[in-house]
Amino acid sequence: MSAAEIKPRDAVHRGDPVTVDRYTVGARINHWITATCLVLLALSGLALFHPTLFFLTNLFGGGQATRAIHPWIGVVLFFSFAGLFLRFWRLNLWKGADTTWLVRLREVLGNRDNEDPDLVEIGKYNAGQKVVFWGMSVLIVVLISSGLAIWDQYFADYTTIEQKRLAVLGHSLAAIVIICVWIVHVYAAIWVRGTINAMTRGRVTGGWAWRHHRKWLRDLVTGKPAEPAE
Ligand code: HEM
Repeated sequence: MSAAEIKPRDAVHRGDPVTVDRYTVGARINHWITATCLVLLALSGLALFHPTLFFLTNLFGGGQATRAIHPWIGVVLFFSFAGLFLRFWRLNLWKGADTTWLVRLREVLGNRDNEDPDLVEIGKYNAGQKVVFWGMSVLIVVLISSGLAIWDQYFADYTTIEQKRLAVLGHSLAAIVIICVWIVHVYAAIWVRGTINAMTRGRVTGGWAWRHHRKWLRDLVTGKPAEPAE
């Protein structure tokens, strides 16, 4: 994995923006495969969830095709997310400072951080991103395990009717919650200007890093290897 770079040093004098590496190509491909799977799962899942949404099955070649393809996309998402999990879990470990940040979230959202170190000295991920990360991780485990329990084509004999009923309930609830978590994730990515570039081009501006993840930037500048571009 290549170490993060802040470049180009001389460009500061030419007036070009300073950029900071945030994600490797591998991490970005991994992320967008996961994101595509979740969108397809939401569409195919909603199509099977309620008769009024059945028209969505047309996107997947009809009702039977949707029923057949949905669990397989789930399997791809599970392994793809496992890749993201292995890359990022360390960077999302909860620290004491994260609780302070979350408690004072209103000040952060209202741009009232007043340069308070508790609110601006943020590592690669802030507490909000960490909550989303762990939320997604737990929900995906619930979705894959409940999904396997109701995948009758292969696993019909492994669960009782009662277990299947519980699994259907758990699967539907987890799906609704993960769609909400996903909306929060995408909203935050668009709302915090310059963030989408991190996942499309793999780099952010120095100003973005200073404004939103100052400790991460400081560590990169001082050569601390703690939180490189993964
Ligand atoms: C399709 C819409 C999506 C968009 C526009 C989007 C956008 C982004 C962006 C811009 C980042 C970089 C944030 C930063 O570096 O500060 C990011 C990170 C990330 N995204 Fe997404 N994303 C989407 C869907 C998903 C889905 C469906 C998942 C998982 C189920 C996901 C999981 C992650 C993870 C794990 C990270 C790394 C952040 C962390 O570890 O806390 N994303 N996303």
